[in-house]
Amino acid sequence: MKRSVLFLFFLVTFVTCSAYAGAGTGTENSDKTKEFYPYFPSLIKWNKSDVNFTPPQTCGECHEKQYSEWSSSIHSVAFQDPIYQGELNQAFKAVGHSITKQCEGCHSPAGMVTGEVKQPGTANLSPMASAGVSCDICHSVSGVTHLQTPTHEPENGSFILTPGENGEPVKRVPFPPTQDCGGGFHGCVESTLHQTSELCASCHNVFHYETNFPLEKTYNEWKFSPYEQHGIQCQDCHMVDIKTFKDAADNFRKPSREEHHHYFNGPNYLLSYLSAGAAKKAGNDDLATRFMLQYDMAVERLKSAADIEIMPVYSNNELTELKVRVKNIRSGHNMPTSLTNIRQMWLEVTVKDENGKVIMTSGAVKDGEALPPDTRVFNSDGMDKNFKFAVDPWEIVAFSKHDTIPPRGHRDVYYGVRIPENVKNITVEVRLRYRQADQKIAEALLAAVPESINLKAMYGLDKVPPLPIVDMASKTGTFATGCPIIGINNCGYGQ
Ligand code: HEC
Ligand code: HEC
Ligand code: HEC
Ligand code: HEC
Ligand code: HEC
Repeated sequence: MKRSVLFLFFLVTFVTCSAYAGAGTGTENSDKTKEFYPYFPSLIKWNKSDVNFTPPQTCGECHEKQYSEWSSSIHSVAFQDPIYQGELNQAFKAVGHSITKQCEGCHSPAGMVTGEVKQPGTANLSPMASAGVSCDICHSVSGVTHLQTPTHEPENGSFILTPGENGEPVKRVPFPPTQDCGGGFHGCVESTLHQTSELCASCHNVFHYETNFPLEKTYNEWKFSPYEQHGIQCQDCHMVDIKTFKDAADNFRKPSREEHHHYFNGPNYLLSYLSAGAAKKAGNDDLATRFMLQYDMAVERLKSAADIEIMPVYSNNELTELKVRVKNIRSGHNMPTSLTNIRQMWLEVTVKDENGKVIMTSGAVKDGEALPPDTRVFNSDGMDKNFKFAVDPWEIVAFSKHDTIPPRGHRDVYYGVRIPENVKNITVEVRLRYRQADQKIAEALLAAVPESINLKAMYGLDKVPPLPIVDMASKTGTFATGCPIIGINNCGYGQ
């Protein structure tokens, strides 16, 4: 009897404490979670007042440089992005607004919290809602709720937006404000959060809307990386030019304040290219040029991220295998990251004899073709709740495979080769190749865009052209097919 009273006491204490601690105890979404997060399944909180969000064009009147850099960034098109809109439309049809609210929370936070964005499509929206991840999103972040989320990790927009206080716009600024900060338009509050990856974390961890399964976890990958250990933040690689990014990655050198830019440059050259086309169609040649500069930077970034080594493996004095080592040398998280089940990064290997005759090949594709089934791809495969293959983010609740390369780490791939008789030397060519998506997936998403997006009128697209492929790294090596030292069983290569 006594024992059960004691037990009851513990039970009551436990339940009370966990309720007090925040929004949930497991990874399930409790009623408390939904109460704590009014825009659930987006975890944004908004301190609503009579101060409205300010569209980026207004900020740009006084902050020309930041505006010019941001307006050709992927963040500026996060909502208009036709590939996003295609997938959004499918999510809307499959599940409804209860899931698209989650998407909008990251792709158009202001449009979501104000209730302006109700369905897929880009027509008749205010400049603020259309602007995606704009100035007044980041510079209104007054705090984060990373520890209160169902997983106790940053996810699905777990930040607090406070665009103003006491009738005046107040902006969160990364450094101690100057006397004239705000030019009479806005107040300034210093925010050290803005100097760290924590600002980016809640949007760069995308978790399943019901199970909280981590579909994309770029922030978590970075969090446990050597870059985090050396104080190199997202900003230090993505808010700088390519030369500075390489220096930050190679030497763990923190860029100075003056070196930061609002590029938010990543590898999405496809979206930069499409956006340049849209700017041209709209008659804004200057903007088109700036998007193409981002395109060039994206390609250069990809070409800086990886390295390859080729090593022959001998057994019984004969070359039997090739070992290809792929190294992530400058990506601050796994490579690839984020949409790892959609992005394609793969090895193309060609082995030739002395006369240039091809002995073996793997992963060879022409633009627009699907990857051959035996291709070594570094990616993930999603599974739905019945453990069946799935690609859509509302269906994926686990991965059957997650094979990306950790920061400063590598993956080894072995290729068996059968050497024809009388061939003394072989030449091996290896390329690490990248594209945003498989051709069929890109075509399906662009075919699914809502009616308000006319790809021909807005982007000048008659049909989806073959998706361009970028070579991230390449290496060539020539190797003897027999062991150069007779009598030794193993040549000692490639251990
Ligand atoms: C927690 C924030 C977050 C949520 C929620 C979110 N996304 Fe995203 N989304 C991102 C980020 C960050 C990227 C960029 C990742 C990358 O480039 O690999 C992205 C990229 C994408 C892309 C690729 C766009 C391109 O041009 O290649 C698509 C499509 C997309 N999201 C669709 C959706 C849909 C549909 C939903 C809702 C079911 C959704 N997203 C929910 C943050 C989010
Ligand atoms: C994705 C988040 C994000 C967006 C969007 C964004 N900023 Fe920033 N901004 C930052 C961060 C982070 C810093 C601090 C960079 C550093 O450490 O130097 C910053 C710094 C600044 C600064 C200080 C000077 C400088 O450039 O470092 C100004 C001014 C500024 N932003 C204005 C703007 C304006 C105007 C826009 C829209 C055109 C904008 N920001 C969009 C995150 C953002
Ligand atoms: C009427 C002009 C004006 C407008 C409009 C304006 N600002 Fe400012 N802002 C200033 C001035 C002046 C300063 C202080 C000088 C400076 O650093 O540029 C400043 C400072 C800042 C800083 C800190 C810069 C630093 O070096 O520490 C940030 C961040 C910022 N503004 C963001 C914004 C955002 C976001 C918007 C739009 C929501 C905006 N501003 C709109 C005039 C303006
Ligand atoms: C409000 C949510 C949000 C915040 C905060 C945010 N991002 Fe993003 N970011 C996105 C979304 C959404 C996309 C994808 C847009 C798309 O592809 O359509 C994205 C894309 C990117 C990309 C990919 C570009 C590419 O070429 O693939 C980079 C890099 C990036 N963000 C860096 C940052 C950094 C650095 C910060 C913090 C300073 C940050 N983001 C903060 C939502 C956010
Ligand atoms: C040491 C430099 C470095 C740091 C630190 C870093 N990144 Fe990256 N990031 C890269 C490189 C290089 C790529 C391109 C290769 C790749 O996709 O992995 C990239 C790619 C990306 C992409 C695009 C994924 C895609 O497939 O479109 C996103 C989104 C991104 N980073 C966000 C972040 C965020 C958020 C942080 C901080 C939590 C961060 N990065 C920290 C170097 C860095």
